[in-house]
Amino acid sequence: GHGTAIEAQEWSFAPPFGHFDRAQLQRGYKVYQFVCANCHSMNLLSYRNLGQPGGPQFSEAAVKALAAQAQISDGPNEKGEMYLRPGKPSDHFKAPYANEQAARNANNGALPPDLSVIAKARPGGPDYLYALMTGYEEAPHDMKMSKGMHYNAAFPGHQIAMPNPLSDGVVEYTDGTEPTVKNYAKDVSAFLMWAAEPTLEQRYKVGARIMIFLIVFAVIMFLAKKAVWGPIH
Ligand code: HEM
Repeated sequence: GHGTAIEAQEWSFAPPFGHFDRAQLQRGYKVYQFVCANCHSMNLLSYRNLGQPGGPQFSEAAVKALAAQAQISDGPNEKGEMYLRPGKPSDHFKAPYANEQAARNANNGALPPDLSVIAKARPGGPDYLYALMTGYEEAPHDMKMSKGMHYNAAFPGHQIAMPNPLSDGVVEYTDGTEPTVKNYAKDVSAFLMWAAEPTLEQRYKVGARIMIFLIVFAVIMFLAKKAVWGPIH
């Protein structure tokens, strides 16, 4: 099952006080967009989510520009025709295939899963995603690989239909981060974690307030107990 060769990574969003690293989420979106989006949909996300608090927080202008890069099918118009137009912030992320059959036809019969909540759907979460992205290796000699399958140390069963999607330099980074497979894997895993749990920072804040309240409350109760029972013993 899952859980093979999966090492824990250091994440900026680790509990209990973690937060997403905006620059990392922005790089992660870029990796998703340039590489993963060729095969994987993220149907639960809209471009406007890329600008909301707690996420990559791209500027309003950047969100508009990113949305406009997608050609979205719309219509019908007055003539009853469908047409393509540049995306708007309110559009959902554009899916790479029209339907499941088209997706399978393009992927050797396998279905690339929607990545909206994959970081929560797989045991190990972002650690598993990182291990998967960096887990492509030559198959051991005694392992019989099925046609069109790729060896991956982290994938359950080690035979995956997804070809190694990342190699050094495939995505340009403009903030000085080294354009390596490890950094791409880390950044896209963080991005997918945010996508699956966009209110994580809010949840941690509420948790911290509850802890502070409980500590203060415990002190008050201790003093109250002493005040009430102190004289009697
Ligand atoms: C499966 C992530 C790029 C095709 C998966 C899975 C994840 C994933 C998390 C599910 C693994 C599991 O079931 O545990 C990503 C990321 C990518 C990326 C983060 C970009 C860095 C691609 C690309 C293609 C592709 C470019 C197509 C050329 C597939 C297919 C599967 C898959 C066909 C199903 C594999 C199977 O069930 O055997 N991907 N992927 N992926 N991906 Fe990707």
